[in-house]
Amino acid sequence: MVGCLREVRRDYLGTISRAAREVGGLARIVAGPPGWRVVLYSVASPSLAAEVLGQPDRFRKQAPGYRELRQALGDNLLTSEDEVWHRQRRFLAPLFTRRRILTDYAPVMVGEAERLVARLRVAAAAGTILDAYALMVEVASRISGRILLGTDITPAVGLLQRFRTINDQLLGRAVSPHPVPARIPTPANRRLSRGLGEVRRIVDDLITDRRANDPSSVGTDLLSLLLRAHDAANPADRLSDTEIRDQATLFLLAGHDTTAVTLACTLVHLALAPEWQRRVQDEIDAAVHDSSPTATDLDRLPWLGRVVHEAMRLSPAAHGIARSTRDDQVLGGYRIPARSWVEVSPWGVHHSPAVWPEPGRFDPRRFDVGPGELPGGHRYAWIPFGTGPRACVGMQIGLLEVQLVIAAVLQHFTITTPLTALPVHAAITLVPTGALPVRFQPR
Ligand code: HEM
Repeated sequence: MVGCLREVRRDYLGTISRAAREVGGLARIVAGPPGWRVVLYSVASPSLAAEVLGQPDRFRKQAPGYRELRQALGDNLLTSEDEVWHRQRRFLAPLFTRRRILTDYAPVMVGEAERLVARLRVAAAAGTILDAYALMVEVASRISGRILLGTDITPAVGLLQRFRTINDQLLGRAVSPHPVPARIPTPANRRLSRGLGEVRRIVDDLITDRRANDPSSVGTDLLSLLLRAHDAANPADRLSDTEIRDQATLFLLAGHDTTAVTLACTLVHLALAPEWQRRVQDEIDAAVHDSSPTATDLDRLPWLGRVVHEAMRLSPAAHGIARSTRDDQVLGGYRIPARSWVEVSPWGVHHSPAVWPEPGRFDPRRFDVGPGELPGGHRYAWIPFGTGPRACVGMQIGLLEVQLVIAAVLQHFTITTPLTALPVHAAITLVPTGALPVRFQPR
């Protein structure tokens, strides 16, 4: 599929959807004139997506997006490969066990959801319309901050605000055939490097502070766990301060932005679908009554889970998962040359009419399937967290957080919006194009 570079950059998601619709599960997208050309292989079929993501030796993480992230944030669990990644994953997997999530992180989410409800009561009484995205960035930042740092999240809030500009600038660079080398002080490069420098300094200070004031820290926040982390296979092996800084920064970035976008999009999808709000509200009233919804209630809230799954199908925060080829590869019967950019597109899979009939319609019943049946008819029809060995390590945290916050909001409020559709565009993650006005009315 041939297009103009400006068009692809302006409407990246539209291009990916069009490729899935008109070309199929694997499309070669060529944009821009020779010498100024971007070529990417967009994968929008569940089985090809699983093939690419399931084989990290064939499909590597050297694509432009990861190149930019690595340069910006250092090598971390998201960007590393091979032995470095294995070592980091061994260190970090114990931070993400189900038990730890339920005992240490879930209460933080419930507490922050209660805080949000109190704040919304004030806005509702004044009849104020709020921007769901700004609101959810704040909620997700506070939750990420508290999970990472314990109770004192003041430094994290400044940190997360700086990520907003970094996110947009990194995708601009990734989708550029010749990004200006970072060492050349263009205004954009200076902004990016200033932002990154500040982020590094804040995290470094946090680590120094923690080491100085609480060297034998027994805290259960992620930073304490990172400082104490060791390799079970080799207990003398510890993470260096730089590694701790790079992982902590990644957790803040990977954890808050994706979750904030998912929360904001879910609220708007619900505001546009009053019948689904009522369905979830009835379920919450019957299962939870007046107490705050907690992680143990979720088993009794199946429609809440389906609503969240359907919102993540339509609006996958990680809209594209980039890979690259080191050698020539064959995928779906087509040759992909060495050093190509292959983009597995959850957006493309989720919006493909070949996988999901009427893909643009919000219908949580798609996830109400019988035993042995699969939503979308395929194990990999729903891949907002990726799949294979590099699938999201924070998936349980993200899903839990979105469900608990949405449950708390719907328990107390009915939501409406003047929007008629959800406006989003692609940065490194999906981002709303402008404000997402939502009104919260007490039930
Ligand atoms: C709704 C929320 C989230 C979404 C949609 C999401 C999405 C994803 C996706 C698609 C990947 C795979 C990337 C790839 O294969 O290249 C990924 C990986 C990752 N995510 Fe998430 N994520 C979410 C929440 C979180 C949270 C809360 C954390 C951390 C606390 C987190 C940390 C990570 C890390 C560290 C990886 C790399 C894992 C590895 O390669 O071993 N994510 N995420």
